[in-house]
Amino acid sequence: MIELQTARPFFEDKPELLQEILGRYPDYGRRSALMPLLWEVQRAERYVSEARIAEIADILDLTATEVRGVMSFYSTYHGEPVGRYHLQVCATLSCKLAGADQLTDYLEDTLGLVPGETDAEGRFSLQKVECLGSCTTAPVLQVNDTYYERVGRADVDALLAAMKEDVLPEPARVRAGDNERYGPAAPAGEEDA
Ligand code: FES
Repeated sequence: MIELQTARPFFEDKPELLQEILGRYPDYGRRSALMPLLWEVQRAERYVSEARIAEIADILDLTATEVRGVMSFYSTYHGEPVGRYHLQVCATLSCKLAGADQLTDYLEDTLGLVPGETDAEGRFSLQKVECLGSCTTAPVLQVNDTYYERVGRADVDALLAAMKEDVLPEPARVRAGDNERYGPAAPAGEEDA
């Protein structure tokens, strides 16, 4: 992606926000502000461009490589733009056992995407991620910052339909033992239609 080198620095017009974030840490721990600074950029722009990486590195007296190193460790941060609705399927054991692979297959077929891709419209992107920390409500689908738990095929259909209308539904709060909305996760091919 070509970036304008003249892009206005992200924090140029946000001095109070920058100071508030830097002020959370002692001078000797200034580099601890890296993740919140990345997060502010990502939240606003949906990814962290090379220009923003350089800006943050400069603020924290780090190298761009060090910033990229942290970004690459966390699936949270994106070096390329993702869709307006970034669908992240947990691919770790509990979710796998509860049908995450089938969920991913269904999303791939329905959206015509493979993990790592964004559609031409920029609406949907798909990613496999590691444990989202909600293993008792597997399988888990995270859309942007929102968790959808015990997701079945009918839930995916309803979610995608809503997102095509630019609505992100409130998630049902589903916990083990009190799941009345979805019922137990069904194996591949036997899910709700
Ligand atoms: S294994 Fe999927 S949330 Fe933990």
